Amino acid sequence: MRRKITAAITAVGGFVPEDRLTNFDLEKMVDTNDEWIRSRTGIEERRILKGKGLATSDMVVPAVKQLCEKRGISPEEIDCLIVGTVTPDMVFPATANIAADKLGAKNAFGFDVSAACSGFLYSLTLGASFIESGRYKKVVVCGADKMSAIVDYTDRATCIIFGDGAAAVLLEPNEEGLGVQDSILKSDGSGCQFLHMKAGGSLRPASNETVANKEHFIYQEGQAVFKFAVKGMADVSAELLEKNKLTGEDIAWLVPHQANLRIIDATANRMGLPKEKVMINIQKYGNTTAATIPLCLWEWEKQLKKGDNIVLAAFGGGFTWGATLLKWAYNS
Ligand code: UT7
Repeated sequence: MRRKITAAITAVGGFVPEDRLTNFDLEKMVDTNDEWIRSRTGIEERRILKGKGLATSDMVVPAVKQLCEKRGISPEEIDCLIVGTVTPDMVFPATANIAADKLGAKNAFGFDVSAACSGFLYSLTLGASFIESGRYKKVVVCGADKMSAIVDYTDRATCIIFGDGAAAVLLEPNEEGLGVQDSILKSDGSGCQFLHMKAGGSLRPASNETVANKEHFIYQEGQAVFKFAVKGMADVSAELLEKNKLTGEDIAWLVPHQANLRIIDATANRMGLPKEKVMINIQKYGNTTAATIPLCLWEWEKQLKKGDNIVLAAFGGGFTWGATLLKWAYNS
């Protein structure tokens, strides 16, 4: 009898730009201070992609290259590249297509997934389905955002939060039952009013007026989003544990979206997880939107052990949110 195929992560690659934007730099740009930012968000600095002509795909490329090197494969072996992003290089074509071309991933088809901070989880679930179906053997799932492209650096309520980065995982078939076990994804379009970009889409195409009104930047009602995020991320993570008959004790790691340290703490508490089991790098990178979760996996890769139960959880614009249960597939 053929064994069930699961989608295992078999390599991780990541990229963060060199340039750092610290809280002290922001103090010089807007009316804020290091103490406020650290105590309200947990962030100390973020990375910013600087340089003419550099876009989100230029972070996807080094992340995927690194993953290929680690796994010892050529980009030509990739069947599919999925990029979760809300800061695509262009409205179209997809950043995945542009990145695949730069990578020489000639045999891959690709597309972008627009699910804001849940972009990686949505993409991972899709990628895993492609592997589970038996149709594809090597699917790369990437979370990448150049948030600095859509941040208003005169708005102290948003410019302190976001940063740039990208990270990617390779999914391959597994017959030992390792990899993606389960996923609960949710969305609620009524959340659009609290977190969106007003112009640049078909509703309000770019015009002198939209530029003058600063409508091409992130609009966020922070307090409202905060309340939904705390509840949404904690509820869905608890639901995932319950559905899989697990408790916090069965979980080796929680990998939460890095939007605000207080949201992360609330989710960990709800799952009954101590701080030591929670991946946190928000202090270094801020909120890199779709990239936060894979960037954590990238940083913690060496500490992960084959068979570890890992919960990934996110909440973001849309609203979109969800949680995924993984069984880690290798020791580094
Ligand atoms: O990843 C996508 C989803 N996004 C999120 O999950 C973000 C969720 N929201 C948040 O993380 C938080 O709401 C923020 C970090 C954005 C803001 O923190 P907050 O604790 O909700 O602050 P607030 O907006 O309630 O503002 C509190 C006070 C206000 O002053 P008053 O009215 O109390 O006098 C603000 O004007 O802090 C003031 N304030 C600031 N002060 C110094 C707002 N921004 C700043 C700032 N520096 N940068």
